Amino acid sequence: MNAAAISGIAVLGAGQMGGGIAQTMIACGLNVTLYDIDSTALANRRASIDKAFERLVAKGRMSEEERIGAIARLSLATDLELCREAELVIEAAPEKLRIKQLLFAELDRLCEPQTILATNTSSLSVTEIAAATNRPDRVIGIHFMNPVPVMALVEIIRGLATSDDTYVKARALIGAIGKTPVTVRDFPGFVSNRVLMPMINEAIYTVYEGVATPEDVDQVMQLGMSHPMGPLALADFIGLDTCLSIMETLHDGFGDSKYRPCPLLRAYVAAGWLGRKAGKGFYVYNDS
Ligand code: CAA
Repeated sequence: MNAAAISGIAVLGAGQMGGGIAQTMIACGLNVTLYDIDSTALANRRASIDKAFERLVAKGRMSEEERIGAIARLSLATDLELCREAELVIEAAPEKLRIKQLLFAELDRLCEPQTILATNTSSLSVTEIAAATNRPDRVIGIHFMNPVPVMALVEIIRGLATSDDTYVKARALIGAIGKTPVTVRDFPGFVSNRVLMPMINEAIYTVYEGVATPEDVDQVMQLGMSHPMGPLALADFIGLDTCLSIMETLHDGFGDSKYRPCPLLRAYVAAGWLGRKAGKGFYVYNDS
């Protein structure tokens, strides 16, 4: 399989990450089957990809012909069997090890032996996910950043058994879609979330302890440190449930109290205040 010539990719999960990965891949000429058990989530994702491409056409950044071609390369599936033909599967399911392991065991049974199974996990062990399959040499972490179409970075994470061949193909694919791959070792949170999440968690502690309001914490980091979004707006954007899962993975994985999730983060998640996708987190969102 030549990475630049991979013709079939399956993306599992029509959430913001899976949707963003699918959008990026079809815009770069790759055929993608986007799978989710929820047909409404799939339909909504297709509509948002349509809208994103229409905006690019309106801005003169994509031709009408390119838009039609890209949309034609996207197939939707609620049946995992339809991912059987893919040469590369990228899983973007919720950040729960058990869910990912069950999915990888199923993919291992379903897909051709040479198919590469990649996980977009943001912090879990690629080695543990690979252990659910009989092909750990063909399992790898390919961790995209949100929003995927905009962010240049992709972390490539080799599990203990990931082969050189799998690694080289994954890196080449990321280069072929115009992103910059950075290779990191399989440790909790990799680099991105090991550095980012404690900052977000600490920002939540400053609100919890009454040091400042969410708006003021965000202003400090935006105006004082030139961050494009403040940490609390970014937490809402990522999803507070995802932030909590990542902090728990860091806390469990390193056994170090410096990673303990802020009780306020736990409370917001328990309340269903998950950030933008729920319409409420540290801020209220009235847009769809
Ligand atoms: N999809 C596609 N394009 C998008 C987009 C989306 N969801 N959101 C914004 N864009 C595009 C816009 O169309 C716009 O494009 P043009 O410049 O070509 O017109 C460009 O991005 C800038 O957007 P806006 O002008 O609307 O807004 P902005 O300048 O405030 O940028 C942002 C928005 C790119 C999200 C910026 O605020 C930003 O970079 N924020 C930080 C994002 C970040 O840190 N991401 C990493 C999260 S951590 C992660 O993902 C790892 C993990 O595992 C949790």
